[in-house]
Amino acid sequence: MAQTAAIRFDRFNVLQDEEAHARIVSARARLGTRAVILCHHYQRPDVYRYADLTGDSLKLSRLAAEQAARYIVFCGVHFMAEVADIMSAPEQISILPDLAAGCSMADMANLAKVERCWRELGQVLGNAEEAITPITYINSAADLKAFCGEHGGIVCTSSNAEAILKWGFAQRGKALFFPDQHLGRWSGSKLGVGLEEMRVWDPDQELGGLSEDEIRSARILLWKGHCSVHQMFQPEHILRWRTRYPDGHVICHPECSYEVCRLSDHVGSTEAIIRTLRAAPANTRWLVGTELNLVNRVAEELRPEGKIIQFMAPLVCNCSTMARIDPQHLAWCLENLAEDQVVNRISVPAHEAKFAKLALARMLEVS
Ligand code: 13P
Ligand code: SF4
Repeated sequence: MAQTAAIRFDRFNVLQDEEAHARIVSARARLGTRAVILCHHYQRPDVYRYADLTGDSLKLSRLAAEQAARYIVFCGVHFMAEVADIMSAPEQISILPDLAAGCSMADMANLAKVERCWRELGQVLGNAEEAITPITYINSAADLKAFCGEHGGIVCTSSNAEAILKWGFAQRGKALFFPDQHLGRWSGSKLGVGLEEMRVWDPDQELGGLSEDEIRSARILLWKGHCSVHQMFQPEHILRWRTRYPDGHVICHPECSYEVCRLSDHVGSTEAIIRTLRAAPANTRWLVGTELNLVNRVAEELRPEGKIIQFMAPLVCNCSTMARIDPQHLAWCLENLAEDQVVNRISVPAHEAKFAKLALARMLEVS
C-alpha cells in the first residue's frame, strides 16, 4: 500500500476550538491503545481534558517507562518528552505536539558551559571526578543528564532533590547542582547545609565568578539558573496575605526563591501540592505559589468542599512555553498518528540516551 504524506500543520492552525475537539476525539478513537496521552499539571485546560495520565516530572517519568502504547504523546515540555523517549522501549515513539514547547530554565544550562565548569572545578579541586557529584534537575536537556550519568552523577526532580543531594554527598564531598539554583538551595538547607556553604556558579564568568577559596569551601555549587514563572512569587505576597488571613495556609513549589519557601508552610512538587490541597480539611484557605493553570484547576475542584485556593502573585504567571501545546497541535499530531504518520518525534541519540538513562535509573533507585 502506498504511504501517504504527513498532513501539514497549517491546515489545523485555522481550526476553531470545537472543530479541533471533534477531530481529537475522532483521531483518539481511531488510535485506540496505540497512543497514550501524558499531561503535566501545568497544561492548559483545553489540552489537559484529553490526558490519559497526569503527574509531576517524577511520576510522569515512571509512567512513561510503564506504557505499552506505540505512541507516547507528551503534553508537557521538551525535556519531559526526551525523558519519555529515554525511559520507554526502543520501538515506542515519543511525541511533543509543538516542538516550541521548551523550558526556559532548562535552556539556562548547556553542555559546553557545564563541561567548562567541570574543567575549571578540576583545576581548583584536583580531580573533579573524586571531589564533586554532578546533579542535574530533570528540567535539563538529555545531554546534561548523560553528562551526569557518565561522571558518577544523577538526576533529581522537585520531589526527591533532598534525597538525591544526600546521595550525592555520600559519593563525594561536594555537589554541583544545575540548572535551578533555588531548588538546590532549598534542598541543601533542608539537609542542614548553611547558606554560606552554598555558592552561586555564574556560567558566564571565569571560575563561575568565585575565588578558589570560595570553591574549595563550598559544599554545593548552585548553577545560576531559575524559573521565570516561579521567580514572580515574592515574600511580600505571602506577608501581605497573612495579615489579611492569619489562619490561612501557604504552599509553594521549590523553584520559588529561598525566602518564599521559608515563609511557606509547605513546599513541594506539583503532585505534592495537589495532594496536600486535596487532603486539607474542608473550609480552609490556601495561598499557592506555582503555575496558574494548576492553581485554577485545583481551586475549582475543591471549591465544593469550601476550600478557598488563591494564587500567590497579583500577575498572571503561566508557563508560556508549555502553553504552546494547544488543541490544534494535538489534533494535528493525533490525526497523523492515526494514519501512522509520525510527526514531532523526540528522539535522543543512543550514545546520550545510554548515560542519561543511567543517571535516571540512579535517581529512581534512590527515590
Ligand atoms: P514538577 O516535577 O513538580 O511537576 O515540576 C516541574 C516543573 O517544571 C515545575 O516548574
Ligand atoms: Fe520550565 Fe518554569 Fe515552565 Fe517549569 S514552569 S517548565 S521550570 S519554564
